[in-house]
Amino acid sequence: MACLRALFRVRRSGQILPVHNKVPVCFKYTQHQGVKGIRNRKSYYESLMQANQQITQDPTSAPISPSDMRFLDDRAYDEVAGGAMRISRDVATAQHVLILQPYIKWTAKRSTTDNVRPEDQLAEATALINSLPNWQVTSALKVPLENLERKTLFGSGKLLELKELIANLQRQGQLTCLFVSKGTLSFAQKHFLESEFHLPILDRYSVVIQILRLHATSAEAKLQVAMAELPYIWAQAKDAGVSQTRRQGYTLTDLQKEILRTRERKLRAELERVRCQRQLLRQKRKLQNYPIAAVVGYTNAGKTSLIKALTVEDSLQPRNQLFATLDVTAHAGHLPCNLQLIYMDTVGFMSDLPTGLFECFVATMEDAMLADVIIHVQDLSHPCHAAQRTHVESTLRSMSFNLTDGDADANVCQLPPIINVFNKCDLLPKHLLNKNICAHHISARAHTGLEPLLKDIERQILTVTGRRKIQMRVPNGGSEMAWLYKNAAVVDTIADAANPERLLMQVVISQRVLEQFKREFC
Ligand code: GTP
Repeated sequence: MACLRALFRVRRSGQILPVHNKVPVCFKYTQHQGVKGIRNRKSYYESLMQANQQITQDPTSAPISPSDMRFLDDRAYDEVAGGAMRISRDVATAQHVLILQPYIKWTAKRSTTDNVRPEDQLAEATALINSLPNWQVTSALKVPLENLERKTLFGSGKLLELKELIANLQRQGQLTCLFVSKGTLSFAQKHFLESEFHLPILDRYSVVIQILRLHATSAEAKLQVAMAELPYIWAQAKDAGVSQTRRQGYTLTDLQKEILRTRERKLRAELERVRCQRQLLRQKRKLQNYPIAAVVGYTNAGKTSLIKALTVEDSLQPRNQLFATLDVTAHAGHLPCNLQLIYMDTVGFMSDLPTGLFECFVATMEDAMLADVIIHVQDLSHPCHAAQRTHVESTLRSMSFNLTDGDADANVCQLPPIINVFNKCDLLPKHLLNKNICAHHISARAHTGLEPLLKDIERQILTVTGRRKIQMRVPNGGSEMAWLYKNAAVVDTIADAANPERLLMQVVISQRVLEQFKREFC
C-alpha cells in the first residue's frame, strides 16, 4: 500500500492526509440513513411482490440475501478504490469544495454534442456537490481552456491564478478538496493538479460515484454502484504509464489487481443473477397481463413526482437531489378506463458521464426498454431543457441498440412508443408555454395537465397491448359478470333497458382474454 500513500496517506480510520502539506483532509463516508424518503423506498422486487400479490415466490426469484453481499465489504478493495477515486468507504463528514468548471473557449472545438452552456454545467456541478450531505461549495468558477486534454489541464498563467485563490481559501480554512467538473480526469492530469494544489482532486465520475454510494440502499443498487467503480479504477491504473508509475507511486500490485479481478467476477455473477430474476419477473408479469409504463428522464426532472401524482402513492418522496432514484421501482396505478397498469420509476440520466458509469444500470433500464410505453419526463423550466431532452433520447436509442446486440432491424421494434411530458410548467409564465409542441404540459407538483396525459397513456397502452374497449351483454349477477371483473378492466355497467335480467358491461379486454371468455361461456 506504500505506493498508494505517496500522495495521500490513507489512515485506517478513513482519514486521508495529503503528504505535501499539513492540512488533514477527512473524508468520512457514512451510509446516509436520514435522507428523506429513502427508507420508504421499496426495492423493485419488494414493491412488485406487494403490488401483485399473485406473483408466487419462486426459488430462482429470491431476492439477494445479505450473505450474497458480504463480499462488498472489503477493506483491501476500499483502499485501492480510495487511492484511485480519492474517496473511501469511511469517507466524508464535512467537505468544503472549490468547483472548477473547465470549458473550451471556442464553440467549434467543444466536444460535447449537447452544447450545454458552461454556466449551466457549473450549476449542474454545484447541484452534484449539494446532493451530498455535509458537502459545501466554497466557491465555484468557470475556467476557459484551449482544450481539455493537456496534461496540466490549465495553462501556466491560470495555474498561478488558481494557486493564489486556493491559498486564500485555505487561509480562511474553507477548503478541503477541489472538484474539476470534467467527466474523467486522466491519471496524469489528476496527479499534476494534486501536486500543484496540494489538495485531493475529484472529477465528475468520482463525485457521482460518491452520490450513488450514498443513495444505493437496495442490494441491486449496491451491486451496480460497486460495478460502476471498477472501470474507473482500471482506467486510472492504465493511464499511469510505467515510468510515471515508478516516479509518482501509483501502481497496482499483483495482489491488488487480483482483488479487483475477483471482485469483478463476483459482481458480474451477482448482476447476472439480478438480470435473470428480472427476466423471470417480466415473464410472470406478462402472464398476469399488466401493462407497463416506464417513466424515464434526466435526473431531477420530476419522474418520481409524476408517478406520485398519477398513483397517489404516499410512500413516494420526491427529493431535490440528483440521482435520488437508483432502483427501478414499480407502482400500481389505474387508467381512466379502470385498467390497472404499473408505472416504473427509473434511474435518472445525466450528460458528461462516461458511458461505463451508466452502463452498470443497464440491467435495471432493461425493464424500461421492454415496457409497453415510455413516458419521458422533462423539466421544461430548466435552461438546458433541449440539451437534456436530446441526451436522454440518444441514450435511450443507444441502449435499445445494445439490447438488440447491434441488430439494426430489431432496434427499430425495440423502443416502445414515447410520450413526451413537459413538467414543472408552474415555474414558467404562461406566455412561454408553446403548446403547439407535441408534448403534454403538466405540473406534477400542482397536479395540472394530468387528465389529458392519462388519456394519452391509455390510448397508447390499448393500442400497443391490443386491448379494446367493448360492450358485453351478460346475465345480471351471473358467473360471466364475476369472470369479467376478475379478468378484464370494467369501465362501466348499466342495466339493459330491453332485458332487466341482463347487464351491459363496458370492458377493456385483450383478444386473448376475449377468446378465453368465449371458450368458457359461449
Ligand atoms: P431523480 O430520482 O434524482 O432522477 O429525480 P426525479 O426525476 O425522480 O425527480 P423528483 O420527482 O424527485 O423531483 C425533483 C425535484 O423537483 C423535487 O424537489 C420536486 O418537488 C420537484 N418537482 C417535481 N415536479 C415539479 C413540478 O411540477 N413543479 C415544481 N415546481 N417542482 C417539481
